[in-house]
Amino acid sequence: MEQLAPTFWQQKYANAETPWDIGYASTPIVQYFQNMDNKEASILIPGCGNAYEAKALAALGFTNITVVDIVPEVIEKFSAECSQHGWNVKAVCADFFTLTQTFDCIVEQTFFCALLPTQRLSYVQKMRQLLRSYGVLVGVLFNREFDKAGPPFGGSVAEYEPLFKTYFSSVQFSPCTNSIKPRMGAEVWMECS
Ligand SMILES: C[S@@+](CC[C@H](N)C(=O)[O-])C[C@H]1O[C@@H](n2cnc3c(N)ncnc32)[C@H](O)[C@@H]1O
Repeated sequence: MEQLAPTFWQQKYANAETPWDIGYASTPIVQYFQNMDNKEASILIPGCGNAYEAKALAALGFTNITVVDIVPEVIEKFSAECSQHGWNVKAVCADFFTLTQTFDCIVEQTFFCALLPTQRLSYVQKMRQLLRSYGVLVGVLFNREFDKAGPPFGGSVAEYEPLFKTYFSSVQFSPCTNSIKPRMGAEVWMECS
């Protein structure tokens, strides 16, 4: 499968060219987990970058969080932060497509849009594989196109729905009313199980 080389992402971080990095956890994701009672649920955050969502979830009391990124430096930095602050998060440097463990919940935050559009079906298939039978994929997807060549690669609900329905029996995209200000109106909330 054709994909962007890990060095592509490594250089972006090394050169501090990370416009996707909002510097804090995405509001819709935090609000979703504020309403989740099962703090022992196993949660995966793939393409985590600086892993703000993981920090927020750890602060909410979730005890079984795994973050994955393909850039070693990003995972090393986050692991050091975890040790320093005593956050109970497993940080793994790996290619998402090679993961084998299964999870109760997987969180999407600017990972889908970072992959080549030709990888989208593989993404959906892999998500289904990594989720337990009752598991849920939640998060935000862009519902817009971008002028410049990606990443990020945009898209629309009309494209996403048939794609996710290939592997998920319940697919819900709803207007995201609690997006961060710069992304308001540009993303949708997704829940697939
Ligand atoms: C656009 S960034 C988003 C980072 C983070 N989610 C955020 O919102 O700040 C995409 C991230 O996915 C990582 N990534 C790209 N391809 C990957 C892959 N195949 N497996 C794991 N991580 C990957 C990149 O290194 C990068 O950190």
